[in-house]
Amino acid sequence: MVDAQTFTAFLYGWTALALVLLPIQLFLTPPYGRHRSTAWGPVMDNRAGWVVMELVSPIAFAWCFVTGGGVGGVAWIFFALWMAHYIHRSLVFPMRMRTSGKTIPVAIVASAIGFNGINGWSNGYYLGGLGGPYPEDWLADPRFIIGMLLFCAGAALNISSDNILLRLREPGGGGYKIPRGGLFALVSCPNHLGEIVEWAGFAIMCWNLPALAFAVWTAANLIPRSISHHRWYRERFADYPRERRAIIPGIL
Ligand SMILES: NC(=O)c1ccc[n+]([C@@H]2O[C@H](COP(=O)([O-])OP(=O)(O)OC[C@H]3O[C@@H](n4cnc5c(N)ncnc54)[C@H](OP(=O)(O)O)[C@@H]3O)[C@@H](O)[C@H]2O)c1
Repeated sequence: MVDAQTFTAFLYGWTALALVLLPIQLFLTPPYGRHRSTAWGPVMDNRAGWVVMELVSPIAFAWCFVTGGGVGGVAWIFFALWMAHYIHRSLVFPMRMRTSGKTIPVAIVASAIGFNGINGWSNGYYLGGLGGPYPEDWLADPRFIIGMLLFCAGAALNISSDNILLRLREPGGGGYKIPRGGLFALVSCPNHLGEIVEWAGFAIMCWNLPALAFAVWTAANLIPRSISHHRWYRERFADYPRERRAIIPGIL
């Protein structure tokens, strides 16, 4: 498919694009969820949009991993983690959203399909063949151990915080309340913080460029989104906790 040199050059460009878009997303918040807008053209059902755009990632990853030449071994652990995250994100999370009647712009779904397709392809392709096998003692390497701990801690924070948010509404409801409990005591978006820690952990345990690129993209998407969410809460709720930060406790 793609030789190693082209693949690496593409990923440098892809990562640079995330860094360019980070400051832009501070002023131009992608219009879904509480920031949704009809100014971005046609819309579709919110739940269906989430399933379609997120399912692209595990399909692209699995296809490229399995057809990539069969490196196997340790890489199957990374395969399992990617699948577990994205089966939850694409099939479980959307079904639990209390989002009846809400829509998402087709433009957002289309751009997320491209985003998830590139990340699923680059990570599956590299782990499935291009990167070659991991050494047999990789499981004892500090990078694997630290990365795995961060991945698990981040996933636990992401899911437990999303659970608090999803339970705030009555079934069929659509409004917003001030979230409380867990790390919401310190930040407005612990679910986003958990997601960033999770993929930083994945990048450390895989120790390769496509995983790093995805970790950078996740931070570039979610740091500005958390700041927008935080600003939105403070504008709408006069009693919003003053000490709460956007995403990094005590700092940001
Ligand atoms: N890897 C990446 O680049 C990336 C990018 C984006 C998102 N994500 C992940 O995808 C998940 C969803 O992201 P998001 O930004 O859409 O999360 P979010 O705004 O925190 O919303 C999560 C869910 O909770 C509901 N909700 C949020 N705040 C609420 C409140 N105060 N009261 C009642 N309901 C509330 C939302 O409803 P509404 O939809 O109606 O607002 C939505 O169903 C997160 O786990 C995030 O980490 C990852």
